[in-house]
Parts: sequence; C-alpha cells; structure tokens
Amino acid sequence: MKILVTGGAGFIGSALCRLLIAETPHSVVNVDKLTYAANLASLKPIEHDARYAFEQKDICDAAAMEAMFKKYMPDAVIHLAAESHVDRSIDGPGAFIQSNVVGTFTLLNAARHYWQALDASARAAFRFINVSTDEVYGSLGAVGLFSETTPYQPNSPYSASKAAADHLARAWFHTYHMPVVTTNCSNNYGLCQFPEKLIPLTLTNALEGKPLAVYGTGENIRDWLFVEDHARALLTVLEKGKAGEVYNIGGNSEQRNIDVVKKICSYLDKKVGLLPSGQPRESLITFVTDRPGHDQRYAIDASKIKNELGWSPSETFETGLAQTIDWYLANEAWWQPLRAQNYSGERLGLNAQKASA
Ligand code: NAD
Ligand code: TYD
Repeated sequence: MKILVTGGAGFIGSALCRLLIAETPHSVVNVDKLTYAANLASLKPIEHDARYAFEQKDICDAAAMEAMFKKYMPDAVIHLAAESHVDRSIDGPGAFIQSNVVGTFTLLNAARHYWQALDASARAAFRFINVSTDEVYGSLGAVGLFSETTPYQPNSPYSASKAAADHLARAWFHTYHMPVVTTNCSNNYGLCQFPEKLIPLTLTNALEGKPLAVYGTGENIRDWLFVEDHARALLTVLEKGKAGEVYNIGGNSEQRNIDVVKKICSYLDKKVGLLPSGQPRESLITFVTDRPGHDQRYAIDASKIKNELGWSPSETFETGLAQTIDWYLANEAWWQPLRAQNYSGERLGLNAQKASA
C-alpha cells in the first residue's frame, strides 16, 4: 500500500512513519511544511529507505496537494499535520485556523478530486484517516469518559480548530461518500516530542535545574497514551477501520498533572542524582497562573477500538514514562538544538501577545 502521511516530521507522525517502514511492507510519502515543531532528525532511521519519501509542502497549498496526489497516487492518507499546542493557540489562534481548518479542507478537497477519478475497487479501498484529539469533546468532571458519541464542546482555539476539521472530514464522507475515518486520541507522550508539552518540557527543565511550572493547582487530569501505542492504533484503523466511523484511542492512564511532574522528578533523581544543591528535583516545582479556559479532565473510553478492531495499549504510564525519560537522557543531541534555537521553555499561553495574532 502507498500511504501519504501529513505531518510526518512531527512527534506522532514520525513515530507512525518509523513504524510503517520498520514493520509493514507499505511505502510512505511524508508531506510536511516543517514548522518549528518538525524535526527531520526523528526520521533518521528511515530517511534512506527506498519505501520512504519526503516532500516539504504546506497542506494549505491546493496546487501542491493536487500535485502530491498526482505524483504518488496513494492508497490511503493519514492526516496528522496540524498546529498542535494549546498554549500557542491562546497566544496566536490564526495559524491554527490556517493549518488545521483551511489545511484540512484543502487536503480533503485534493483527496476527493483524486479519489473520484479512481476505478470503483480502488475508490472503495481508499482510506482518509483524519487524526484528531479528545479535546474536541470539551472537559469532564470528576467522573465519566469520552466516547465516540460524546457531543463536541471544544474550549480552546486549538480544540475548536480540530473540531472544525473533524466536521469537514465527516461531511466529506456523508456528502461525497469519500471513505473517511476519524480518530480522537488522548494526550500522547514518548520519544521525539517537541519540548513544549508537559512531559518533555518538565523533564528537560528538570535536567537543566529550571523551575517546573505547574498551571493552577496541578489537579487537572490527562489520560496519557504512549506514542508508539498510538502509531499501532492508527495502523489498525488503517487496516481494519470502517469508512465513516470514529474511533477513540486512549491509554487507560489517567494522571493528575502534579503527579506526572513528581514522577518525572523522582525518576530523574534516582537515575542522574539530586540537583547540584543537594535538593530533590521536586523543589523546582512552581505553581503558576492557570491557563485561560483550562480543561479540567480528559479521559477516553477506548472500548470501541478494542472490541471492534482488537487494539489496546501495550504500555502502562510507568513503563512508557521510563522509556520516554531514558530516551531524552540518551538523546540530548535531538532536543538541545530545539531548546537553543526554537523554544527555550518560557511560559506560553497567557494571551500576552499582540492582539493581531
Ligand atoms: P506536532 O506539532 O509534533 O507535529 C505537527 C507536524 O505538522 C509538524 O511536523 C509540522 O511541521 C506539520 N505541519 C503543521 N502545519 C502544517 C501545514 N500547514 N502543512 C504541512 N505540515 C504542517 O504534532 P503531534 O503532536 O505529532 O500531533 C499530530 C496530530 O495529532 C495533530 O493533528 C494533533 O492535533 C493530533 N493530536 C496530538 C496529540 C498529542 O498529544 N500530541 C493528541 C491528540 C491529537
Ligand atoms: P499540554 O502538554 O500542553 O497538553 P494539553 O493542553 O493538550 O492537554 O498540557 C498537559 C497538561 O499540563 C494541561 O493540563 C496543562 C498542564 N501544563 C502545566 O501544568 N505546565 C506546563 O508547563 C504545561 C506545558 C502544561
């Protein structure tokens, strides 16, 4: 199978490209604009593989997307390209509307033009997997789980832009009968994640002895999914998912933010020793002004993908976190240049930027 992956130089997309090349016979074309969040170093293990190709393109560029379909004639698209960080969406929502809404529309439309010209059996076999987030469902209270039928109630500019993209993807199935499948997953963590999200930011700051900013009281809950489990789930959806369906993907690993930060600190203390001051890394924890509109709790009911497609996560939060921290310790050369050149860990998301953003 020939698969067009968008956003394959990002965190989840690169894990997916590595999995597809390492463990399947499929070939991959990775279409990525290379924003600040992209890192081609994440693709080193596969960059010279004959089944892998890279194209630096913007999914908002209609002519470029039409050309990608014409050149590669893919059997499937797995669409991950997006602006992905909630805090950045608070400071500058415009880029999120462009890439996540206009970009998804542009890609869906190019896919439709290509798909409509295929013969009947290729049209039926074609898949467009739209990779989305559980954040479209809004925020949970202390109990309950998000399911595939939970009403959409996005609260941040990021989740609103992803919700818009999901609605477009849904419409392309219902109106044009293009075989679209949407997946909504919980917070991912693992190797090669840009150090702006909670886990890699905390662990790189903790290694450098910098303050660990915990928003509000730290009692917000996220349901953590190891990125390689997610990549396998996407492959399962590609191979077995039914057109027009939605599948929620979760790691059964709910954690309060403060507990995540403390676990990272204690793992690092044991692995690399205490801070030069002799203090444990927990002493770096600093409670800071809460994120505007901060969702309280996310948690996924992943029983549909388990029962219908046979996927469930392999990693617990403890095993996945240990692998993640070990990887960052062994791969400073991957993240140090990003800290030096792209983002050095300062607080984002307080709506402190220009009103025009
Ligand atoms: P990421 O920010 O690490 O990577 C996104 C990639 O998309 C980057 O390589 C970037 O260059 C590319 N990109 C952005 N705009 C583009 C454009 N206009 N044209 C082409 N390429 C563009 O993101 P991620 O964490 O890997 O997330 C991948 C997908 O999964 C996103 O759609 C995101 O919304 C979704 N998702 C992520 C998480 C998470 O926890 N990281 C959770 C749920 C859903
Ligand atoms: P994040 O990794 O940004 O993912 P998302 O907002 O998509 O869930 O944040 C995860 C949680 O951690 C969220 O509740 C916000 C919180 N958080 C902090 O407390 N401190 C931080 O420095 C960051 C980046 C996030």
